[in-house]
Amino acid sequence: MKKHRNHSQTLLCALAIGLFSSTAFAAGPVKVDPIKDETTLKAASLAATCANCHNTGGKGVEGAAVLGLSYLKASYIESQMLSFKRGEREATVMHQLSKGYTDEQIKIIADYLGQK
Ligand code: HEC
Repeated sequence: MKKHRNHSQTLLCALAIGLFSSTAFAAGPVKVDPIKDETTLKAASLAATCANCHNTGGKGVEGAAVLGLSYLKASYIESQMLSFKRGEREATVMHQLSKGYTDEQIKIIADYLGQK
């Protein structure tokens, strides 16, 4: 068995160390905007409740019966959620799920998952 790394492996290793040290140590402290981050976190955690069926970030699963949401317009997601909630659109599960959110929460979720 060969015990020593060949040249390309050594080079890759050196590159990886170089990249890691330049990004991890040269960047300095990360600036956090607490207001923006709290809003994003709230939106992300609300939208996470859709991930079981529509996948993470609403991106859908290829070949699955339940469609993705991320390619839809935010305004469309919002209007459909409100239609499900009011019983105006027929559904198997969405009419029940949509009732669990306020109209404001639905807007937050739609804006987070949908296209602008
Ligand atoms: C238990 C699985 C499940 C979960 C969780 C779920 N959905 Fe759905 N969703 C469906 C199904 C199934 C449909 C098709 C309509 C129906 O039969 O209820 C659908 C349809 C939709 C549609 C209509 C899409 C279109 O092309 O018209 C929207 C919008 C939607 N869901 C948004 C959401 C949002 C937002 C959440 C999270 C708050 C969510 N869904 C959570 C299963 C789910």
